[in-house]
Amino acid sequence: MRRLYPVTSPEAPVERLYEDLILDAGTTRAHVALGMVVSLDGAVTVDGVSGDLGGDADQVAFRRLRDAADAILVGAGTVRAEDYGPPRATEARRRARLERGLGETPRLVIVSGSLSLAPDLRVFSDPSARPIVVTAAGADAHRRRVLDPVAEVLVAGDREVDLAAAIDALTERGLVRVACEGGPSLNGALLAADLVDEIFVTVAPVAVAGDGPRLARGPQPLDSRRFALAEVHEHTGELLLRYRRIRHPDASRVGG
Ligand SMILES: NC(=O)c1ccc[n+]([C@@H]2O[C@H](COP(=O)([O-])OP(=O)(O)OC[C@H]3O[C@@H](n4cnc5c(N)ncnc54)[C@H](OP(=O)(O)O)[C@@H]3O)[C@@H](O)[C@H]2O)c1
Repeated sequence: MRRLYPVTSPEAPVERLYEDLILDAGTTRAHVALGMVVSLDGAVTVDGVSGDLGGDADQVAFRRLRDAADAILVGAGTVRAEDYGPPRATEARRRARLERGLGETPRLVIVSGSLSLAPDLRVFSDPSARPIVVTAAGADAHRRRVLDPVAEVLVAGDREVDLAAAIDALTERGLVRVACEGGPSLNGALLAADLVDEIFVTVAPVAVAGDGPRLARGPQPLDSRRFALAEVHEHTGELLLRYRRIRHPDASRVGG
């Protein structure tokens, strides 16, 4: 693995990728960093899952982002498609988090309007790691009761999930560094609400064609959301890019 930008570094073991990564702690609202892997031709899935796209470096990047976050935000579509499990970490990773002032493990936060999440899903299997499920006030009351024993249900929005209100609620709980793991619908909605502060994207050196979705989707294109390149790493053909959101037109460069 080597860093190519902002300064080139000599070849290093892939485990050193983002080893000192610390996400900004949001002050007025939680900082949201999106992490995704895409194929060379822009797909984020093969046969409905992302698993085969990411190589060694992507796996390290995925872990580093989790290790730098207070919360992992994920859409219910991804939880269902990828059979998500509760966040787990080795003793060493837990210790390292505590030393950096974070909780032992990040809190998993699932966004679901429909609450079509069976309580026996693997993601709810660890009573010591109850996820937060963010939904809207209009969600089915029965489904909500069913989830109550296995999750903390948080209401944000009336008929639909209000993602800005959801991020505010996480901020109030001290979950101020949020790693979002997708998928494309959630990403699109977060971008539409301008809640994405950083994007970590791994470009996998494969072309897969097919009709898999892109990194983000939504009902209509957005006014361009501009990002500045902050870091580039390479490992056996995988390209790891980090971009930071530019909200002020004159801030064209962002340091690493
Ligand atoms: N390549 C990668 O890095 C990567 C990463 C993650 C996921 N993926 C892939 O992406 C696919 C899943 O993506 P997806 O787009 O179908 O689902 P998604 O973005 O993971 O989740 C969408 C779901 O989130 C809930 N939601 C509630 N409020 C929302 C809002 N305001 N905006 C958007 N979503 C809201 C809804 O759940 P309810 O239906 O429960 O109401 C909605 O169906 C899977 O195939 C997965 O493998 C790839």
